Amino acid sequence: MNLPPFKLERYFARYEFSAKYLLCSSDCESVTVGELLAMEPGAEERFKEHWLGYTESAGAPGLRKQISRIYTGIQPEEVLVHSGAEEAIFLFMHAALQPGDHVIVHWPCYQSLFEVAKAIGCEVSQWEAHRAQDWAPDMDELKRMLRPNTRAVIVNTPHNPTGYLMPAAQYRLLNQLAQERGILLFSDEVYRELEYNPADRLPSACDINPTAVSLGVMSKAYGLAGLRIGWVATHNTAVRDRMAALKDYTTICSSAPSEFLAELALRHREQIAARNLGIIHSNLLLLDAFFVDHPDRFDWVRPKAGPIAFPRLKGTLVEDFCRDLVEKTGVLLLPGTMYVHPGNHFRLGFSRKTMPEGLAALEGFLGG
Ligand SMILES: Cc1ncc(COP(=O)(O)O)c(C=O)c1O
Repeated sequence: MNLPPFKLERYFARYEFSAKYLLCSSDCESVTVGELLAMEPGAEERFKEHWLGYTESAGAPGLRKQISRIYTGIQPEEVLVHSGAEEAIFLFMHAALQPGDHVIVHWPCYQSLFEVAKAIGCEVSQWEAHRAQDWAPDMDELKRMLRPNTRAVIVNTPHNPTGYLMPAAQYRLLNQLAQERGILLFSDEVYRELEYNPADRLPSACDINPTAVSLGVMSKAYGLAGLRIGWVATHNTAVRDRMAALKDYTTICSSAPSEFLAELALRHREQIAARNLGIIHSNLLLLDAFFVDHPDRFDWVRPKAGPIAFPRLKGTLVEDFCRDLVEKTGVLLLPGTMYVHPGNHFRLGFSRKTMPEGLAALEGFLGG
């Protein structure tokens, strides 16, 4: 298959480990292995005793049990663990899609959500998030895009990069529509549990739609990207079995120490997510004031969930601005061109404890 370079990942590869302030990260602030182990008495000793052989291909039973608790009606056997969300996306596309299938993708999006389908030979249509509607996509547009050969709809809410959170009624309609038309809904829920108002949390697609596939990961809400543990949860046995068969050709099973640590973290997931939301809330207050002070430079839609937003830059080309900024101040922003988005936007991330210093450096750059 012919996959082009992953623009966002290549941009990060250039700056992520050298820039002083990561002001565009989509994962929450992480912790050390020691800090995670300290969450439970005896965990350090158990970790040292943990066996380093292969683990079960579908995921360690204890981990699948903890993951199933995130959902209301998912059994541990209905969870398939992967090496990050990225492997799960890759395998879902290969398990579910054939050349010539039509696929509709929530747009803009994390590149693999459309690129893998394209490389398989699918026709991919973009279901657009509209800036004028505070980044809401339009259900009527989606209905008009459906074709007899539409095989899957790929949706991501809370959304990367806009922070858009779909209203629950619309999300239910979307699931209902997909079910009625026999279309697979792949729901990327990696930012779930980072809703600023907990009442806005959506049900997981797998809990309201018997064929939908929900995607989750340790990286985002829980800030544990280095574990490389992701999963799908679904009642759809056919898709799950096909993904499991393909996994024998990618990673076979996940890393045993990572599975141990992920299971431990998930036992405390509410506490971990609450800590990360605390960082996001206090950084957002600073951003509110920052954008009020700079209406001539930025157009800001305050997100409803997650650690990122997609403001528009006024007056300068966004790629030039981001390059100048990182070279002169060490503040990393991600130009919207990495999403092939034409609107002069950039991705802003506010999940890091160092964000106030990074924002001050950005402020200084604007004044300079
Ligand atoms: C929407 C979305 N889905 C999937 C992923 C992949 O997650 P991971 O890197 O943990 O595999 C990302 C990572 O940025 C993402 O933003």
